[in-house]
Amino acid sequence: MNKREAKRAIEKLRAELNRHNYLYYVAAEPQIPDREYDGLYQKLENLEQEHPDLVEPNSPTQRVGGEPLTGFNSVTHSMPMMSLSNTYSKDELVEFDRRIRKLLSDISFTYVVEPKIDGVAVCLRYEHGVLVVGSTRGDGRIGDDITANLRTIRSIPLRLQSDGPPAVLEVRGEAFMTKESFVELNLSRQEAGQEPFANPRNATAGSLKLLDPRLVAQRPLDVVFYGILECEGSVFASQSEVLASLRNMGLRVIPEFWNCGDIESVLATLDELEAIRRDFPFETDGGVIKVDERVLHSELGATAKSPRWSVAYKFEAERVETTVLDITVQVGRTGVLTPVAELDPVPVAGSVVKRATLHNSNEIERKDIRIGDHALIEKAGDVIPAVVEVLKDRRTGKEKKFEMPDKCPICAGPITQREGEVALRCENLQCPAQIKRWIRHFAARGAMDIEGLGDALVDQLVDKDLIKNPADLYDLHKDQIAELDRLADKSAENLIGSIASSRDRDLWRVVFALGIQHVGATSARTLEEHFDSMDSLKKANIETLESIPDIGPVVAKSIREFFAQERIEKLVDHLNEAGLAMKKVNADSPRGPLTDKLFVLTGTLGTLTRDQASEEIRRLGGRMSSSVSKRTSYVVAGENAGSKLSKAEKLGVAILREEEFLKLLRP
Ligand code: IVH
Repeated sequence: MNKREAKRAIEKLRAELNRHNYLYYVAAEPQIPDREYDGLYQKLENLEQEHPDLVEPNSPTQRVGGEPLTGFNSVTHSMPMMSLSNTYSKDELVEFDRRIRKLLSDISFTYVVEPKIDGVAVCLRYEHGVLVVGSTRGDGRIGDDITANLRTIRSIPLRLQSDGPPAVLEVRGEAFMTKESFVELNLSRQEAGQEPFANPRNATAGSLKLLDPRLVAQRPLDVVFYGILECEGSVFASQSEVLASLRNMGLRVIPEFWNCGDIESVLATLDELEAIRRDFPFETDGGVIKVDERVLHSELGATAKSPRWSVAYKFEAERVETTVLDITVQVGRTGVLTPVAELDPVPVAGSVVKRATLHNSNEIERKDIRIGDHALIEKAGDVIPAVVEVLKDRRTGKEKKFEMPDKCPICAGPITQREGEVALRCENLQCPAQIKRWIRHFAARGAMDIEGLGDALVDQLVDKDLIKNPADLYDLHKDQIAELDRLADKSAENLIGSIASSRDRDLWRVVFALGIQHVGATSARTLEEHFDSMDSLKKANIETLESIPDIGPVVAKSIREFFAQERIEKLVDHLNEAGLAMKKVNADSPRGPLTDKLFVLTGTLGTLTRDQASEEIRRLGGRMSSSVSKRTSYVVAGENAGSKLSKAEKLGVAILREEEFLKLLRP
């Protein structure tokens, strides 16, 4: 392909990718499967690699920038980014309306009510349709240049969807994290021994302040827009029109807004908003009321800080008082000890709260939380119960200070604190608490999806020493399970069935299920795009891992360290032997004369090592298993073959001696 052709192909691919990016992240109506998108992306990446001079900062391949910054530059906003006056009182809203009507004499006008998203205000500047600068509000006049960080957010178009874009467009919106991804992020931080964020807004602000865009790319940031600060050559009659134009240009706007004829209707709308706000994926802390007619905005003007045509009405956060009955300590999958407040159950924001995580001992000290204290409870990000503060004036003197245990509450193993971490950990990898969490995670719905393997069952299996790791699940027999408490014969059989059928799960699910620190379902899918088997992932070095878009240095290091452990090496071997495919489904798994044949090796062969024999079998399309069952096609028996051979004889499975096996390999 010559340069001209390459240029045309690159431009076409970029336009296509931008369109699909829009359909996926903004319109939420994807038209092609992820794999097809990845194929186009790969093609573009290859072409750009062949023609480095054709790479442009706004190519979809350039979202995650190269080197970390040493600090942010300042940006002077072309128009000041004002903030709003706030109120919690409906009477003040009526007063706001009266003031406006007075200022406008008898001009008629209407209102728009929008949800007030509890995030971080950002400003984007597009020139001729291309994103040039993204910034924070700062003091309203000068903000930080966080372009590199904002570019990593997929719902932000690098190029506007418009044939005749304005020469200059400055838009304002809110960066945020959904409640769901906030919970996930905090869980993984906690497992990694890091300080969790107090709420989605802090998590967003903290992420946008990171100097390494590669780290930002791993934070689940999102953005919606609600305002135009400048748009050369256009006038908008109303705020409703602004929202419609933003949408037309391919920018994501607030999901819902209400047109209201008068203040009574505004008040009713705010009640409605308060009732439905928990259903929004993001946290809302109120409603924003705006005069819809834009011409009236300049007429009404602004005070030093905020416009007179708009006001924010804030909802009271629902805080409830209860008693801290006890403080207990949980041990997580990675051994992190988490103190938990056991509360006198109270309803908060739609559910009964009995426990609240206290994160770590720093938090307990900072808030001076004692057993027996009266405390105010709220839900962080509308979901996670949290102790806001304790009511010290209600103390009787009987409250007890809490201290973190110096031994693991589960296995009595020693507790350590790693350098640079706030968390305390039980480092005993055989600690039943860690094993149980690990196996629960492995079997969970989003991971291996082993139906019927509930928490209580995992507890029993571990307590009775029947399993020590996830791979042991595949060696369980029906009779072992049937002996457990409260388990009917039928359910034991079903469980064995669902464990067996989990052998065919997609590669990414197995990768996710292993519980590698920092590797969530999304990263696991990304890894699956770049590796076609567990084996190749296991062997990948840091450089290879880091070269994958969306896999940053922290994740890469964590993957490397995970697979470097001997116990994990053994675990993966065990899973392999248990017959887990652990290959990309559409990877060209070799088809050959042994396709669909399941082999078990026993005893020692004279001419091949075990590894060589397995390799040969796989090369010809066959699969390996460690135990003999009715599904086994052949047992290959070498010298000193033992119980597996007799089991094969009992089940009538075909037995191959070494010469016969070699003939099968090389007919
Ligand atoms: S309009 C000049 N609309 O709330 C008016 N702001 O307390 C510009 N916010 O700084 C703001 N949702 O960060 C507007 N639908 C919405 C909003 C919204 C959230 C934030 C914004 C602003 C703060 C005001």
